Amino acid sequence: MKAIVMYASITGNNEEIAEFVQEELNNRGVETEIEDLFDGDEDAADDKDLIIVSPYTYDKGSIPSEMIDFFESLNDKDWTGKQYVVIGSGDRFYGKDFGAATDRFDEQMKKTGATELSGPFKIHTRIDDNDKAALRTLFDARLPKG
Ligand SMILES: Cc1cc2nc3c(=O)[nH]c(=O)nc-3n(C[C@H](O)[C@H](O)[C@H](O)COP(=O)(O)O)c2cc1C
Repeated sequence: MKAIVMYASITGNNEEIAEFVQEELNNRGVETEIEDLFDGDEDAADDKDLIIVSPYTYDKGSIPSEMIDFFESLNDKDWTGKQYVVIGSGDRFYGKDFGAATDRFDEQMKKTGATELSGPFKIHTRIDDNDKAALRTLFDARLPKG
């Protein structure tokens, strides 16, 4: 099984999520790459079995500008048989727009036919020990053993 974390990060919070997920999945025998969409390849997920998307949320619930091409490319993908989960950092200060990009990516990923490993997972600012414990539990429960 191969995985990739497609992410964008300005101040490092989503980069930290991407690195945490990469390490946890590698520890579980899932070969995992991370792709920074600031200068990355939006098609890098095409040959992976598990796709993790990690966006920050910007102005009034916008997706990251670095991820617009990737977001739009999802309209044309057939990712039936793949699995995905969206794990994004936002800030609760923004109220109803908290982590809105995480929800928008979750909806967009559904259109590809991929199966959700779990619903959208929102993190307030920097990933903390509670987030890490919840993600470890999720991976232990949902990833194939061995
Ligand atoms: C101008 C600006 C607008 C933002 N708008 C939102 C927002 O609408 N919703 C939200 O949840 N977070 C919002 N944020 C907070 C970021 O999403 C949050 O700090 C996130 O952790 C940044 O991730 P990064 O460190 O990977 O860049 C905003 C931050 C800035 C600077």
